[in-house]
Amino acid sequence: MAEEFTPSGAPGAIRFAIVGCGAIAVNHVAALQALPGVTVAAVVDTDAARARAFAERFGIPEAFDDVESALGSGLDAVTICTPHPAHEEGVVAAAAQGLHVLCEKPVATTTEEADRMIAATDAAGVRFGVVFQRRFWPAAARIRAAIDGGSLGTPVSGSCIVRLRRDAEYYAEPWRGRRDTEGGGVLMTQAMHHIDLLQWFMGDAVSVTGRVATLRHGAYIDVEDTAVATIEFASGALAVVQASSTFDPGLGAQVLVSDAEGRAASVLEFPEGTGLTDVWTLPGEREFAAPYAAGGVFDIPLADVHLGLVDAHSLQIADFVAAVRDDRDPLVTGRDARRALEIVTAIYRSSESGGAVRLTGARSGAAA
Ligand SMILES: NC(=O)c1ccc[n+]([C@@H]2O[C@H](COP(=O)([O-])OP(=O)(O)OC[C@H]3O[C@@H](n4cnc5c(N)ncnc54)[C@H](O)[C@@H]3O)[C@@H](O)[C@H]2O)c1
Repeated sequence: MAEEFTPSGAPGAIRFAIVGCGAIAVNHVAALQALPGVTVAAVVDTDAARARAFAERFGIPEAFDDVESALGSGLDAVTICTPHPAHEEGVVAAAAQGLHVLCEKPVATTTEEADRMIAATDAAGVRFGVVFQRRFWPAAARIRAAIDGGSLGTPVSGSCIVRLRRDAEYYAEPWRGRRDTEGGGVLMTQAMHHIDLLQWFMGDAVSVTGRVATLRHGAYIDVEDTAVATIEFASGALAVVQASSTFDPGLGAQVLVSDAEGRAASVLEFPEGTGLTDVWTLPGEREFAAPYAAGGVFDIPLADVHLGLVDAHSLQIADFVAAVRDDRDPLVTGRDARRALEIVTAIYRSSESGGAVRLTGARSGAAA
């Protein structure tokens, strides 16, 4: 199959660069190097030593310390694994070079940045995907498929519960825990995944109310570690969100939806990084329900959380490569990823104003 791919007019492998050589880049390189017909040709990190060490560790021929120099070197696509506020710069630079681009979540920290990224990739005619690899867990995909297939009706009620442990050591990474360099806290960085799943199951969100607070980690962060919200959907459905990084031990996450007949399904993330089915009451399909994993492993190291996500990253990255090869959209596009971001930023605005925030993006041209 790889021989048939001729993105730049010549037969051969799809040549990727990875921008940002930190924790999650390890999942990207593992997924990309496992795919036939794909080469990781270069890596980029503003920390030149880190770029070189990463390239050496994974046998990647070239290492750069700035994006512009890297992207001129005969690439077809890039994945962006930099801190959130640097996502726009990487995506726009890749698009300007005519490269397909897969960006880590959150797509950006504001919908304005996301809109510019969508516009730049549209104008360049390149594919733009965003990593929400939890959608690729069979436990999550099965809920979406049940809704598509009609065995689970359009959800009328939902809940998104995220109860994680993060600590001073985690927030010691200089860009984490600060509004100017992370754009938000537990909602922006952790619960974004689960809010994405919730809205993927429930449809367009139209109104949000919420409150955020910093109740445990305030000595070293200026973003929220605690949030609650209610979301109303275009269908009339309602959902609640609870998201906190204050739990010790962390208790994982659960996204549950139920339909007008009372049927319910949920995906449980426990331990963090592993997706299971814990509630599945669809008639004739009860066997899908796995036993609730309480009593399992608490608070595994973050590196192991990432390791647990390698399979899901691999599925999403394989989909992105197939999208490039087949000239189609990836399963999660920049427009898709903007929806969860719009909900999260609306919760921040609601918390400031004390009132409900109406959403428009899900039906506007920007997010169609
Ligand atoms: N999908 C997931 O489950 C998941 C998990 C962890 C992180 N992430 C996302 O991946 C991104 C990176 O997170 P991380 O934990 O790997 O962070 P990290 O701090 O471990 O790594 C970020 C790397 O980017 C480099 N960098 C910073 N600015 C740069 C720039 N302008 N150009 C090139 N390199 C730059 C840094 O030097 C660092 O090496 C974040 O957006 C995060 O939300 C996603």
